[in-house]
Amino acid sequence: MALPHTHRSIRLAARPDGLPTPEHFTVAEAPLPNPAAGEALIRNRYFRVSASLRMMISGGVRDVDGVPFPVVRPGETPFEETIGEVVTAPEGSGLLPGDLVTHWHGWREYAAVPAAQCTPLDGTLPDPVAHLSHAWTAYAALRWGAEVRPRDTVFVSGATGAIGSMAGQLARLLGAARVIGSTGSQQKADRLVAELGYDSAVLRGARPIAEQLAEVAPEGIDVLFDNVGGDQLRAAVAAARNGARFALVGALSGQLAPDGTGTSAPVQLDSFQLLLKRLVLRGFSADDVPAAERARWPEKFAAWLRSGDLYFPHTRVTGIERAPQALCEVIEGRHLGTVVVEL
Ligand SMILES: NC(=O)c1ccc[n+]([C@@H]2O[C@H](COP(=O)([O-])OP(=O)(O)OC[C@H]3O[C@@H](n4cnc5c(N)ncnc54)[C@H](OP(=O)(O)O)[C@@H]3O)[C@@H](O)[C@H]2O)c1
Repeated sequence: MALPHTHRSIRLAARPDGLPTPEHFTVAEAPLPNPAAGEALIRNRYFRVSASLRMMISGGVRDVDGVPFPVVRPGETPFEETIGEVVTAPEGSGLLPGDLVTHWHGWREYAAVPAAQCTPLDGTLPDPVAHLSHAWTAYAALRWGAEVRPRDTVFVSGATGAIGSMAGQLARLLGAARVIGSTGSQQKADRLVAELGYDSAVLRGARPIAEQLAEVAPEGIDVLFDNVGGDQLRAAVAAARNGARFALVGALSGQLAPDGTGTSAPVQLDSFQLLLKRLVLRGFSADDVPAAERARWPEKFAAWLRSGDLYFPHTRVTGIERAPQALCEVIEGRHLGTVVVEL
C-alpha cells in the first residue's frame, strides 16, 4: 500500500480552565513520522477515549506524585491505548508489516513507536477492539483489590464507564449474589440492569446515595468497587457490613469536577465507622498484579466473550476529527462502556 505524505493528529490547542470543550483541540496535518533507530512505523486503526485524559490536559498531573501519565501541553498530542498495524519495523524486532499491535501513541493516524513498546496481538480475542476494553482492570480489582467472594453484595460506583461496565458482569461471574451500580441518568440505570448484569442502580445527583443504597441493599454491602470517590465513597462506608472490602480504583468525582485540575478528590470519612466495621480500604492499580496472572487473562477473557457470559459494551466513533467531541461526550456521560475512535 502506498503511504500518504502527511497524516492527521489531534493537538491540544489551549489548556482548559475547567472541563474541556472541542474548541480546546485542533486537527493538525503534518508529514508522516520518520521512525528513528529501534522504532516501528504504525498505522493506527483504533484508540480509546477516556475521561481521565482531563487530568493530563489540565496540567494538574505535573504536581501530583504517582500519576502514571505525563502532562499534555498545548501543541502536544494526547496519548491513549491504541491498536495499529505495523507498516515498517526494525530488523530483529519480531514485528512484521501487517501485524496488529497495541501501544500508547493514540490520537494520531500514524505513529513512530519504539518497537519494544509495541505489544503484538495474537488473535486470542474474537474482536481485536476488545483489547481496548478495561476488562482486565475490572477483573484485577475485583479479584485482588476487593477479593470478591461468592454471595457478596457488590457496589460499583461509576458503573457505566469503561471499567464499571465490565465490573458488574465480572462480579457476577466471580459469584457475587447481588450487584449494584451507580450512574448519572435513569436511562443508563435501566441499561445497567437490562444489559450489564446489575440487579439495581442508584443515581448520582438525585437523592443522597446513602439513602438509595439503604433501599436497594438493606442488609449492607460487602464490597465497594470505587471508580468515583467523594460522596459515593462516604455512602458506601455507611452501607458497609462488618469486614467489607473497598477497592479504590478511580476518583471520577474529582477528575471530572468542573473546578480545579481533576487531580484531587477530597472526601470526609467517619474514621470511627471504618474502625468499628473493620473496613479494608485498598488503593488499587491493575499494574500491581503479578505478570503471570496478567498473562493468563486473555485466554479467560476470550473464553467468556465467546461463551457470551461477558460482553464488551462499546461505541465506535469514526474519524480522528471526531475524537475531541467524543472525549467531551464521555465526560458528559453520554455513552455507556468504552468509547473507541476508529480511523
Ligand atoms: N486503578 C487502575 O488500574 C485504573 C486503570 C484505568 C483507569 N482508572 C480510573 O478508573 C476510573 C474509571 O475509568 P473509566 O475509564 O471507566 O471511566 P470513563 O469510562 O472515562 O468514565 C466516564 C463516566 O464517568 C461518569 N461521570 C461523569 N462525571 C462524573 C462525576 N462528576 N462523578 C462521577 N462520575 C462521573 C459518567 O458516567 P455516568 O453518567 O453513568 O455517571 C461517564 O460516562 C477513572 O478514575 C480512571 O482514571 C484506574
